[in-house]
Amino acid sequence: MSVAGINVLVEETRARQAAAGAPLLAVSGVSTYYGSVAALRGVDLTVGEGEIVTLIGANGAGKSTLMMTIFGAPQARSGTITYAGQDITRLPTHAIARLGLAQSPEGRRVFPRMSVFENLQMGASLNGGRTFAPDLERVCGLFPRLKERLQQRAGTMSGGEQQMLAIGRALMSRPRLLLLDEPSLGLAPLVVKGIFDAIRDLNRTDGMTIFLVEQNAYHALKLAHRGYVLVNGRVTMSGTGRQLLDDPAVKAAYLEGGHGAAPGA
Ligand SMILES: Nc1ncnc2c1ncn2[C@@H]1O[C@H](COP(=O)(O)OP(=O)(O)OP(=O)(O)O)[C@@H](O)[C@H]1O
Ligand SMILES: [Mg+2]
Repeated sequence: MSVAGINVLVEETRARQAAAGAPLLAVSGVSTYYGSVAALRGVDLTVGEGEIVTLIGANGAGKSTLMMTIFGAPQARSGTITYAGQDITRLPTHAIARLGLAQSPEGRRVFPRMSVFENLQMGASLNGGRTFAPDLERVCGLFPRLKERLQQRAGTMSGGEQQMLAIGRALMSRPRLLLLDEPSLGLAPLVVKGIFDAIRDLNRTDGMTIFLVEQNAYHALKLAHRGYVLVNGRVTMSGTGRQLLDDPAVKAAYLEGGHGAAPGA
């Protein structure tokens, strides 16, 4: 082989190694504004392939803003967001959705006049619907309640059922990275358990990478490999789920008296 050929091989190997070491999602120095008011102030965080990473924080901390900024609406005013090695900071939302990211936004946002089945079809259309049958099967396996109600209008489903549908719809696009904004909000403990079990299963069985925004800090930190704490648009703490659960400041601010934080829970 020629020297030039060897050099090409070396370069290719380096590029592959860099890609392998790089996180799937990297948010670097991101600031987002609503008018002149900053909602995110230089946020840095990463999500590695195969990880569950959670972002916890109080009401108004900027969690949903970060999710939406990753999806390009609103766009970051400064900083960069890279996904699978590609700079997506300035891409429009529809282009980002084609790259293998899917989100279940806060407040469910299902199409209320469409049936459950049609909502799932909408999710599948993002990947061309090529694997519709097995994907539908899998979503119905994760959320049997949806299977029973495929013909029901989404707007008449209960809150918990709509949340399952919003997650199911996101899954129908076979995302490589799933963003979930408060999947447990307002749900009964048993439904919350079902949703968290489904998230764990997607990660363990399918190796899906998940970025989870949660007020339910106890359950989210128990589930996640790593977590970040967002305060007033800034990341103030990060660590493994266990480290954050054991941290006195996290306990005082987000766990004591909170959901499921009873001793021994
Ligand atoms: N469209 C908007 N226009 C102006 N300000 C906004 C807009 N959306 C959010 N904000 C403000 O940005 C800040 C961050 O809001 P965001 O919804 O990101 O918080 P959050 O952490 O998701 O809160 P929650 O836990 O209540 O969902 C808040 O002060 C909020 O009032
Ligand atoms: Mg929010």
